[in-house]
Amino acid sequence: MILVLSASLHPDSRSRILANVAKSKLEEISQNVVMFDLANKPLPMCDGMTCYGDPNAQELASLIEQADAVLLASPVYNYDVNAAAKNAIELTGKAWTNKLVGILLAAGGPGSYMSAMGVANSLMLDFRCLVVPRFIYALGDSFQGNALVDPQIDERVNELIEEIIRLKTAITS
Ligand SMILES: Cc1cc2nc3c(=O)[nH]c(=O)nc-3n(C[C@H](O)[C@H](O)[C@H](O)COP(=O)(O)O)c2cc1C
Repeated sequence: MILVLSASLHPDSRSRILANVAKSKLEEISQNVVMFDLANKPLPMCDGMTCYGDPNAQELASLIEQADAVLLASPVYNYDVNAAAKNAIELTGKAWTNKLVGILLAAGGPGSYMSAMGVANSLMLDFRCLVVPRFIYALGDSFQGNALVDPQIDERVNELIEEIIRLKTAITS
């Protein structure tokens, strides 16, 4: 199973559009995909103690544990993923151990393209994740309404998915 984790809490999120595009493409090639959208499944802030009993946090941790790969779709906030994505990782911690991870970002401007590196480093060093070095980074003009209209970004999503499937198959064989 491949888990798509959408981290934006914005009702008209562009990273959620990227998440949905990735989900549809995976389904087209008969992959088993589960979407977990933080906008629909509110999580408590991680306090390092009682938060782990929250049902949504437990559901997410269980999905991450079961997943062969996780695609994290997030807004860029302050040159990083948003706090909701970071909080979701804090809440689910060890469930990420050895996961294959792809990252899709929506940003406001071109200058923040290295914003995935903080979360990528922490996933690699904390949980030994294999983070695919093929990030998706899309700006506002790649979208119209609810649609991704940029063929280059669409092709990059194809490439990310190909790489996820190639590595998933290699790891599990
Ligand atoms: C609090 C906040 C911080 C932001 N920081 C950045 C930033 O550092 N770099 C950037 O390119 N865009 C930044 N943006 C713009 C968002 O990345 C952009 O609106 C993006 O579409 C948000 O993703 P979403 O549509 O999935 O919610 C920021 C927006 C907000 C609200």
